[in-house]
Amino acid sequence: MVSSMTSRRIFVLTSLVTAALIAAVVIAVHPWQTLNRTSGTADIGGSFTLTDQDGNRVSEDILEGHLNVIYFGYTYCPDVCPTTLQDITTALDLMGEGAKDVRPILITVDPERDTVEVLKDYVSWFHPSLIGLTGSTDEIEAVKTAYKVYSAKAPQEDDETGQNYLVDHSSITYVMGPDGSFLTHFAYGTTPEEMARTLEDLL
Ligand code: NI
Repeated sequence: MVSSMTSRRIFVLTSLVTAALIAAVVIAVHPWQTLNRTSGTADIGGSFTLTDQDGNRVSEDILEGHLNVIYFGYTYCPDVCPTTLQDITTALDLMGEGAKDVRPILITVDPERDTVEVLKDYVSWFHPSLIGLTGSTDEIEAVKTAYKVYSAKAPQEDDETGQNYLVDHSSITYVMGPDGSFLTHFAYGTTPEEMARTLEDLL
């Protein structure tokens, strides 16, 4: 009896410590969650100057007049980015006519390799309305700061050219309103059906 009580107590304690550790990791990896709770959602977003896949200089004005689904990623990403962009594409396909009021945007976190030409080719694989944005290192850092996006180069072994690095990055999809304000976000793994439903509710 005593020993089973003790082992139960140890189990509960271990569970609590594990839960606390998981919470700490989640908050460390997803700083926007703390941010939403402490300082309000209005902190995400803001002005930017970037270049689209056709070479046009654009600002936050492109957000006006429709819902915007903004994803930060990079074209060399082997998995998370193409999966997310494909899910966004599927969500827009599911929305039918409503999709015309939604603008999907990819902002690169790898401006060094994601040139206008590279982006132009890449966005053509996804929804026809997808806009790709790149810029100078400073411009990308500024928009990352505005959207509380984390990314960092992850150099690979055996990379003699230094051009085959990966980029670790947060993988949140932001839904921004027609006035550029933050409305909600999709965590990685949100299904196209859920995305479509949320977007339809917001339209
Ligand atoms: Ni990625």
